[in-house]
Amino acid sequence: MHRHTNFRIGGPARYYVEARTAEDVARTVAIAQAAGLPWFALGGGSNTLVGDAGFDGLVIQIALREIVVEGDRVRAGAGAITASVAREAGRAGLSGFEWAVSLPGTIGGAVRGNAGCFGGEMEGVIEDVRILEMQNPEGDAPRPYGAGFECRMQNVTNTECGFRYRHSIFKEHPGWIILEATLALRRADPDTCQAAMDQFLERRRTSQPNGKPSAGCLFKNIETRALSSDAVERLERFSSGAWRDVAHDGRLSVGWIIDRLGLKGRRVGGAMISEHHGNFTLNLGGATAADVFALGEAVRERARDVLGMDIEYEVQRLGC
Ligand code: EPU
Repeated sequence: MHRHTNFRIGGPARYYVEARTAEDVARTVAIAQAAGLPWFALGGGSNTLVGDAGFDGLVIQIALREIVVEGDRVRAGAGAITASVAREAGRAGLSGFEWAVSLPGTIGGAVRGNAGCFGGEMEGVIEDVRILEMQNPEGDAPRPYGAGFECRMQNVTNTECGFRYRHSIFKEHPGWIILEATLALRRADPDTCQAAMDQFLERRRTSQPNGKPSAGCLFKNIETRALSSDAVERLERFSSGAWRDVAHDGRLSVGWIIDRLGLKGRRVGGAMISEHHGNFTLNLGGATAADVFALGEAVRERARDVLGMDIEYEVQRLGC
């Protein structure tokens, strides 16, 4: 799986299928279910960490990549590259998705994780999402192919998506596979869209590391309203009040916390916490998932000890 993830980490999947149509997806999952085989729907692999022992099941690469502009809407297959969707929208003079030009991964993954950056979030652009509702992704008892197997398509509207910070209802239903999303945008001048996209790419280039493989931010930012009074007190002392200036949109950057804890540059095996942005763990070459977790756990322990805070992984995990 190191060949299919941006982190370039992960042992083998027992089976790997690239599904280019909804029917491919349904039939592939049906076969897996009939064989009692666990399955996992993979998007762009940009936010996924696969364990060193790999995954003893079926990985379905969702490769529905069609992008169709219809009036002020864009319909994108779950496997469409998010940045390409942003570019197509901009070219068609549709505004609202320019920020996503700097987002790695695919539309399906972006919807599932309510991905966002630079003030934009999927929640703000999604009109609805087409899904395939499958049965238990952990695999059922083996049975003859097709016997008693059921799947159905559904449309999930924006409000039904249950979007929150880096969360959606799709995370709560592992048997739902995102097939397609419709984005509602607004008319604008294509050159203005392009200029905005150039700016977002520049912001990404200057504020985040590039060059070495990573999975983007390893941890979720801290929601400030969820902080205990003890944590607030400790933060206050730890940063002499500076955290209040760093927090924005109700969240505190874990990259900033890691930086302040002096953990940038720390290494375990082939993994290193970026010197550029503390929430990025880089694969310097040959890093294992175990290396990444050793670093991640060291960060979590320090945050707990020094600040009394629980930091949660943002990266999606498979087989680890
Ligand atoms: N900062 C530091 N040191 C660091 C990192 C950040 O001092 O090592 C400071 C920055 O200077 C800035 C503040 O912390 O004052 C916030 O940093 P930044 O703008 O980079 O944002 P972030 O909160 O660390 C979030 C998202 C990113 C997204 C950026 C830009 C999360 C976990 N991270 O990072 O998303 O690209 O905002 O909007 O929500 C991702 O989800 O994988 C991801 C990279």
